[in-house]
Amino acid sequence: MRFEAFSRRAAEQRSDCLVIGAFERAELGPEAQAVDRATRGRVRALLARGDFSGRAGETLLLVDPTGIRSARLLLVGLGARAQYNRRSWRRALGAAVSALARTRVTSAAVALERPGGRELDDYYFGRSVAEITGSTLYRINDLKSARKPRPPALARLQLGPFDARALAAVRRGLVAGAAVTESARLLRNLGNLPPNVCTPRYLAAQARELERTYRRRLRVRVFDAAGARRLKMGCFLAVTRGSEEPPRFIVLEYRGARANRAPVVLVGKGVTFDTGGISLKDPGAMDEMKFDMCGAATVLAALDFAARSELRLNVVGLIPAVENMPDGRATKPGDIVTSAAGLTVEILNTDAEGRLILCDALNYARRYDPEVVVDFATLTGACVIALGNHFSGVMGNDDALVRELVECGTRTDDRAWQLPLTEDYADQLRSNFADFANIGGREGGAITAAAFLGKFTQGLRWAHMDIAGTAWTGGAAKGASGRPISLVADFLSRRASG
Ligand code: BES
Ligand code: MN
Ligand code: ZN
Repeated sequence: MRFEAFSRRAAEQRSDCLVIGAFERAELGPEAQAVDRATRGRVRALLARGDFSGRAGETLLLVDPTGIRSARLLLVGLGARAQYNRRSWRRALGAAVSALARTRVTSAAVALERPGGRELDDYYFGRSVAEITGSTLYRINDLKSARKPRPPALARLQLGPFDARALAAVRRGLVAGAAVTESARLLRNLGNLPPNVCTPRYLAAQARELERTYRRRLRVRVFDAAGARRLKMGCFLAVTRGSEEPPRFIVLEYRGARANRAPVVLVGKGVTFDTGGISLKDPGAMDEMKFDMCGAATVLAALDFAARSELRLNVVGLIPAVENMPDGRATKPGDIVTSAAGLTVEILNTDAEGRLILCDALNYARRYDPEVVVDFATLTGACVIALGNHFSGVMGNDDALVRELVECGTRTDDRAWQLPLTEDYADQLRSNFADFANIGGREGGAITAAAFLGKFTQGLRWAHMDIAGTAWTGGAAKGASGRPISLVADFLSRRASG
């Protein structure tokens, strides 16, 4: 997919299809008005006859319009003008791209009204357009044996019009957005794969694949169970005990800045299937626990983005990858294990496994003396209860870092919300038999999970993102969402240039 920015008036731009918007009540923005004049009132005639109402998401395709340079004209409904915002704009653009994808149009010129809003400057406008287009054109990597429908023909999208001052920033945004789209595809494909394919070994092979692609800048190391034992990762190993699938601890090092610059360390939960272990989950929707490796996929996608964009930054990715299964040898409630940090943990619930693999990975991060550490995990059902599916949860021991992540989410519409993380919550993890327990009761479950991780991150600048509610969609549209790669890509890009 190629993205370009243009400065001519929309009616003058040459393409297979020009895309313009119309509000309800026949209200038109300046480009649509100009197109209406150029076509001798075709647009207003359609609205007057009621063939097109301007309702949000409505589309109508006209072929061979006269008076403009494009071979087709796609009208897109923008909804009520007074309520036009980023949300309705995203929806309109998505509807336009979906409509184009159903045709054989290969190149489109898009001149939809730009929504207001502080964060959507020229760069982020371009970036969003590329990202929305890319994610709308994403086709699920299913394993259906029937012949696949033809992929969409759309290969070139021109965005405009912009005045000369804006062009450069929009173009930079389009390039960044196109890169995010590629990394998001990697993330979504990995999430969507079945758990008998996407195993810890498969994730390690994916990391190796990235190493091959970005040979000069990316180094990968993989530890097996014996390696994890040498690293004394007792918590990590406790989770994998019940599984026939061998675990992997994956390390990716991207070098984009001078060697002595401290890296950003990203840690991703890689539970390739979470049955709950001996604390077995209810069967309803258990299949969705194949998405329990979306934190790991986020980290792979983030490294892909950094290397693809040649960010001037050092980034380390750490992925503890395991399957959580019940078995004769599996960890039992009450077992006490020793983490790599030397702290002992009483495992009261084997379904609280994410924090167990993350704590040993977070401890591994210390050897890099990192600038910051951020972990990504589908960690708790409690976070889904707290925030639903719209916001990821963010917590940490460094308020500036947490705020930075929240702001990246706002700019990229990949939103995140801070939950409080204070000493109070850590009290819920008390154990009579070990340094602490791996669960803290029902109350504030997303936060006590973070408090557990907080025991292992003292002295580090650390934040935790709980993506349990955002990483995938359930129901009829079941599939990985690609979140939070937009947020993470923005985070890395800004750290590289700032
Ligand atoms: N992977 C789950 C969290 C999860 C559950 C994500 C449902 C998305 C949807 C995690 O490993 C888990 O099982 N957490 C438990 C923790 C509890 C035992 C303290 C949970 O949230 O129920
Ligand atoms: Mn679990
Ligand atoms: Zn889990």
